[in-house]
Amino acid sequence: MTSSRSALEAAGKRFRTRSISRRVQQINISAIKEMPLLASRLEGCVSLGQGIPSFPTPPHIVDAVCRALRDRPESGKYTLGPGTARLREAIAASLWREKGVRADPQRELCVTVGAMEALSAAVLTVVDRGDEVLLPSPNYASHIEQVLLAEGVPLFVPLKAGDWQLDVEAMARAVTPRTGAVILCNPHNPTGANFREADLRALAALAVERDLIVIADETYDFLTFDGESHFSLASLPELQDRIIATYSFSKKYAMTGWRVGYVHACEGLLDQMMKVHDAVAICAPTVSQIAALAALEGPQDCVTEIRAALERRRDLICSGLETMRDHFSFVRPRGAYYLLARSRHPGAGSMDLALRLLNEARVITIPGAAFGPGGEHHVRLSFGGFEEEIQEALDRMKAWLDRQPPS
Ligand SMILES: Cc1ncc(COP(=O)(O)O)c(C=O)c1O
Repeated sequence: MTSSRSALEAAGKRFRTRSISRRVQQINISAIKEMPLLASRLEGCVSLGQGIPSFPTPPHIVDAVCRALRDRPESGKYTLGPGTARLREAIAASLWREKGVRADPQRELCVTVGAMEALSAAVLTVVDRGDEVLLPSPNYASHIEQVLLAEGVPLFVPLKAGDWQLDVEAMARAVTPRTGAVILCNPHNPTGANFREADLRALAALAVERDLIVIADETYDFLTFDGESHFSLASLPELQDRIIATYSFSKKYAMTGWRVGYVHACEGLLDQMMKVHDAVAICAPTVSQIAALAALEGPQDCVTEIRAALERRRDLICSGLETMRDHFSFVRPRGAYYLLARSRHPGAGSMDLALRLLNEARVITIPGAAFGPGGEHHVRLSFGGFEEEIQEALDRMKAWLDRQPPS
């Protein structure tokens, strides 16, 4: 396996000629996508890797798209850059209903190609070469690459190791005059943390005091467990003119492949972001906007069911890992569908561990190093897959660990 990885790296390097921009040379395809690629060359792997939930897109969403494609010729054409007026109105209504957030559908919302495009456009809009961007560590790998793509400098501040909560005092100490923004995803990928309201309020105060833009990645805002609520930075009036909040239909409505999300920001910020959106996407796919509208206007039990199923899977993976306590420690996830397991054998790096789990146990995991320095010595386990697959992966991990010679 080490050899297939080297082959992959070598293939990348072969083309690193003068014609490739420095900007692109210094970023990487995240290991989240690389591990399944390596696994595709092996037989019979089971996955705790990429965060693709097992659920199919709910039938009422699919039906709405089929009907529109059949009956409405405009379904195959570009929409306005920010998205259809009807979808933006439905988004504004749902933000108000679910979070008490007011968004002007004409001036403050843009439908995007997933949260990913919204995040990239946000970072490209507010980060200049050399600007520092505060990131908790470990952190969602793509935020790091987005900052590098904008030629910014990631400023990693470790999360608290015991519970993966924010260390806002450390964040405050890290800020310098070059720090322009902070990116925060809550609930958190890869740790499964649901950040505390008091810390989020303290972070908001820091942003105001130090004049930082807050990029709030709300991809998992619907997904907390044990009846815990989610506190949204987007609900804080003091952040109104300095927050860019990005949202996704991918996980909430089982629509990862539709590539649709949206961004909410004040007019002054959104106007600037629209230039990036126009340059890279023109508009989000029209069929996916139709699907997103059906998702927002349709019954919401699908969201409740997804949440309940993922909570059961969280319990399953935690009880499986309990039996491996000699080898891994972990914090029980309170949101999103990821768990970061820390190896109690810190000699080996996280890449080695993930590659051995792949080669020798045929279990796909993501090496923690992909999530920044704070992720080293961990592997990220996703519990978005079917329960049978999670159980099979746990059994294989346990059997593999039992085969290891005592250290
Ligand atoms: C934290 C986080 N942000 C953004 C995304 C991308 O979301 P989308 O599919 O809407 O582009 C993901 C996908 O896994 C994610 O985990």
